[in-house]
Formats: sequence, C-alpha cells, structure tokens
Amino acid sequence: MSFDRRKVLGIIGGGSIAAASVGAGVFLSTRTPSRALAPWQQAGGYDEPRRRALSYAILAPNPHNRQPWLVDLSEKDKIVLYADSNRMLPHTDPFNRQITIGLGCFLELLRMAAAQDGFRATISGFPEGFDNDRLDKRPVATVLMVKDPNVEKDLLFSSVLDRRSLKEPFDLAQIVSSSILQNLEKVVQDDVDVGTTNTQSIVNQLRELTHEAMAIEIKTPRTYKESVDLFRIGKSEINTNPDGIDFGGPLFDSLALLGMFSREIALDTDSSAYKQGIDAVMENVDTAMAYIWLKTKTNTRIDQLNAGRDWLRVNLATTAIGVGIHPISQALQEYGEMKPSFDQIHNLLDARGETVQMLGRLGYAQKIPPSPRWPLDARILKA
Ligand SMILES: Cc1cc2nc3c(=O)[nH]c(=O)nc-3n(C[C@H](O)[C@H](O)[C@H](O)COP(=O)(O)O)c2cc1C
Repeated sequence: MSFDRRKVLGIIGGGSIAAASVGAGVFLSTRTPSRALAPWQQAGGYDEPRRRALSYAILAPNPHNRQPWLVDLSEKDKIVLYADSNRMLPHTDPFNRQITIGLGCFLELLRMAAAQDGFRATISGFPEGFDNDRLDKRPVATVLMVKDPNVEKDLLFSSVLDRRSLKEPFDLAQIVSSSILQNLEKVVQDDVDVGTTNTQSIVNQLRELTHEAMAIEIKTPRTYKESVDLFRIGKSEINTNPDGIDFGGPLFDSLALLGMFSREIALDTDSSAYKQGIDAVMENVDTAMAYIWLKTKTNTRIDQLNAGRDWLRVNLATTAIGVGIHPISQALQEYGEMKPSFDQIHNLLDARGETVQMLGRLGYAQKIPPSPRWPLDARILKA
C-alpha cells in the first residue's frame, strides 16, 4: 500500500527525518525491496513451458497479496493447483470466496501466458469437487498444457507487466467516460455478469456505502488486526516476506527505523499513524470516479474461479486503456458486522439473490510500482 506522501509527512510531524543524518541520501536511495520485486523481472525467463507460464501467473492480483497458490508439476505437461491453507483470510473472507477469486485470476493469467507460447492450457476447475464453506485439500484445478498451432494469443497479455491494483486517490477532475466503461464490459466472458456506472448519483451512493463498509472493517478489531498482522514495513520485512500489505519506500523505511510506524502503533487507535492511515484509505474510497462490478447467479467455487478469471481480464483491459482500477471488497465480505452493507450493496447493484463477486473503483492517478511476489520456486510443491 502506498500512502499519500503528504499524509505520511504528517505522521512524522513535518518531514525531513533522515535528511539531517550523514549518509541519508544513500540510505533513501537504496530502499527499493529489489528481491521482493525480482519475479516481475524474471517473468518469462524459464525454458520449461509450464514454469514459463507460471512465472507470469504468480503476478496475478489476489486478496491482501497472500499468493495462496501452490503447484504440483510432478506429472508431465500437467499443473495441479492447490490452495495453501496457511494463506487464508479467516476473518474478512470466512468462506475463502475471495481467495478462490484470486486463484481464478492466477488461472486466467496462466492460460494467457501459455497461449502466448503456442500452448493450449485446458483448465478443469475443482476436478475432485469442492466444499462451498471452505477450501480443502482437494485440487483447485488441473491444467493440461499441450502445444497447439491454432491456439489464439490474447491481446490483453501485453499489459501483464504494467498491471496494478491502483491504491491511490483518483483525480476528481478526470471523469471515466461511458465509452471506456462499455469497452471494459466487453472483456467479461460468459457465466459472469458485469455492470458499470459513472452516473454521479450512483457513484455518490457507492462512495458512501464503501466508506461505511471500510469503517466497519477498521472498527471491527479482529478484521482490522487481520490486515495489520500482514503489514510488511520497510525493505527488510518486505524482502523477507514478499506478500501481504507492503509499506515500502524511503519514508516508511525511515518511519520504521525511528520507531514511528509499526504494527503495534497501527493497532493503537489513539496514535496519529492510525488516524492518518484511516484518512489515506478513505481518501481512496471517496475519490472513485466510476465503478465496475462482477456478479454471478450462484456462488459456487466454479463461479468464483470464473469471476477471478474475468477480474484479471478487466484489470488488464484497464491497464491497456490507461485507466486505474482498485478493488474495494469490504461491503462484499461475509461476516456478521458487515451484513447491513452487504445487503445494501446487493440491493443497489440489483443483485438480490445473486453474488457480487468483485467491485472496483475506477479513475486516474499516478503510476505505482509493482507489488512484491514470492519467487516461483517458493510456490512449487513438487517439481
Ligand atoms: C478477490 C480480490 C479482492 C481484493 N480486495 C481488495 C480490497 O478490498 N482492497 C484493496 O486495496 N485491494 C484489494 N485487492 C487487490 C489486492 O490487494 C492486490 O491484487 C494485491 O495486493 C497485489 O497487488 P497488485 O494487484 O497490484 O499486483 C483484491 C484483489 C482480489 C483478487
């Protein structure tokens, strides 16, 4: 997560913390967590076709950047995908719905990367069945990769390395046009319904609703703590655990070093860091210029995988068009305190009896660096 620089400077009470110290320039210029970002450079750099496709798939968007994928490569031409039970989000995602969506994003990226290389990836979701209440030890998918001269390349693939979840305030002066929304809708495939809006009255209602849902998540101690426990603060923590919610760059490194920002401080509701953090996330939520959502008639694991595959497509299409997208999932989450927001959003998006699987805000903002990833080898169960 990148906080607004102005606000971060507020946390530290005015600014030039490290500037006073000798060697500060060197310190500040070496804060990039290069090891955690290396998978973005290594993508495509493998000879074996499955590994080459997987080296892109691990760049998929996924909730809280948990990267819950594990693959078994022990059978020729085949990839068996499992969910890593240590990487769930039990408080904000009690039924592992969002985790499954992230695995769908992974599978679509895998399919595209294979096609790019002339391989048809045939994906079978949950081939041994599934439990709708929680993901279990059964495979999430098997993927058969076969060379096929007729396989079609996907144009969206060219945006893979530039794709981001843009967690920044959007420019209130730049509208997202209706023609952009129509183009985004076209990349969504069968079995998933897509909706979009830039109508000001509905955007205002959604801003209010998502703001309220964000407040519920933050004020519910166990759901807020679930996020804070995943904070990776500063270069060293990010390189050691390249997942979760990363606070990188010179400012956060400096704050961490000075003892002014930590997981403990973020949990202290009286601290200025807590208050500035809330302001920063609310500024994001409050500056949505348009929205896109994906819904499914039923809510099976297959629906969730399909929604993930389409979310990845939408995210790549926004990248190609140059518009920012940021998933805003709080109101879609299935725990007691969130029920009123969950019901309101399903009513507002005309999804009574259906499931809104993804909601994203759209707009324009500055570019951000890629988010950390575990290297491919760390996610291979059996080679
Ligand atoms: C199912 C799902 C739900 C998500 N929900 C949120 C969210 O509520 N807020 C948020 O900031 N990001 C959300 N994200 C985005 C992830 O945090 C993001 O994909 C991850 O940190 C990796 O960053 P990247 O997409 O820029 O590579 C979600 C992503 C997925 C797939």
